[in-house]
Amino acid sequence: MSMYDVVPVSTNDYKKLAQKRLPNFLFDYIEGGANAEQTLRSNVADFDKYTLKQRVMRDVSKIDTSTTLFGEYLSMPLALAPVGMAGLFARRGEVMAAKAAENNAIPFTLSTVAICSAEEIHAATKQPFWFQLYMLRDRGLVLDILNRAALSGCNTLVFTVDLALPGMRLRDYRNGMLGNTVKGKISYLTQLLTRPGWLFDIGVMGKPHSLGNLTHQVKSANDLNRYKAFVESQFDPSATWKDIAWLRQNWHGNIIIKGIMDVNDAKAAIDSGADGIVISNHGGRQLDGVSSTINKLPSIANAVAGQTSILLDGGIRNGVDVIKAIALGANSVLIGRPWVYAMAAQGDAGINSLLSLFQQEITSTMGLMGVNNIKDINIDLIEQFNSHLDSVVPTVGHSAIHCGEN
Ligand code: FNR
Ligand code: LAC
Repeated sequence: MSMYDVVPVSTNDYKKLAQKRLPNFLFDYIEGGANAEQTLRSNVADFDKYTLKQRVMRDVSKIDTSTTLFGEYLSMPLALAPVGMAGLFARRGEVMAAKAAENNAIPFTLSTVAICSAEEIHAATKQPFWFQLYMLRDRGLVLDILNRAALSGCNTLVFTVDLALPGMRLRDYRNGMLGNTVKGKISYLTQLLTRPGWLFDIGVMGKPHSLGNLTHQVKSANDLNRYKAFVESQFDPSATWKDIAWLRQNWHGNIIIKGIMDVNDAKAAIDSGADGIVISNHGGRQLDGVSSTINKLPSIANAVAGQTSILLDGGIRNGVDVIKAIALGANSVLIGRPWVYAMAAQGDAGINSLLSLFQQEITSTMGLMGVNNIKDINIDLIEQFNSHLDSVVPTVGHSAIHCGEN
């Protein structure tokens, strides 16, 4: 049996299948992070530092993985993170993901730079979805997009604040995707031709490839240069918390601020009227060298728990990671790359089976820790902090929460 006959049962299995199917530059766009990708690696690796407490003989016959967020029912504490250009990874990818999320009773977040528009998602689904927005220089455009999102039934705005400048994603340059060289253009065509399945299913049948929420601003998403030009011309590096207060006045649903990595920023988000925060470093795609998100969670949760809903993303690859994040203080988590890989690999069947894997892993982890309900998962279930620093710093001697903060 070759590797590709194996039934995928992990994010990594889906990643391998996705790599076979996608042109190189798209796979690298998804997989990559900024600069030397240190933060990208530690987002995943730092989950290993935390160990769970095994408890037995506690009647775990009634495990319930569900939770509520902003009064909404979630079958498990998980949401699909906004991912730009997902319609290039599967045919009408955002619709596919939104339907799978609805099917599994978890939220789907539509990216500002999605291929499918808010209206297209609205027409294909019944439940409200979440909408992600960045601060754009043209505030009229911001209001226009907010209005379209509200009319499409979005109740929650995920406002991303960690993209004041685009991160330096070296893979995109290396592949010739950024920087207009002839060599780059040839490389692009060669990569497309080595993936005829993708070329027909998505390249041809998956059109249009314009950015659905920005149809008037960016003509085609096929070219990462145009997309980058849009980011550079429209993303507003002068934005401050005052702009969030302005946003608060112009959006009547929930606001979640995505991209918080500091206690003071978490407090500022709450002060400016946010209903929730996402502890996030953009999946290691923006500031390389910043801490992993899971290491930041304990201190931020300690400072603002009870005042806001705390979400986290970055490095969550399975249901055990979800439980660790909940135990360390998150109300829910989001996944980015895992759903994209599952969808690129096997379409809607891929996302649905990935989500049911998460569900099964959350259930079995809870059961083996002796817990029946999400609300009973807390810091007491983190048994020890297994610092990688132990080998360099012989005596650590702090509490688990303290050491979790790098
Ligand atoms: C992203 N992310 C992102 N975030 C956002 O606010 N708006 C966006 O359009 C995008 N686009 C995007 C594209 C791709 C290909 C990736 C991988 C990520 C970041 C995303 O929402 C999330 O923060 C990270 O993906 C979380 O890390 P993991 O789960 O990928 O490790
Ligand atoms: C990214 C943008 C879309 O991370 O946020 O690629």
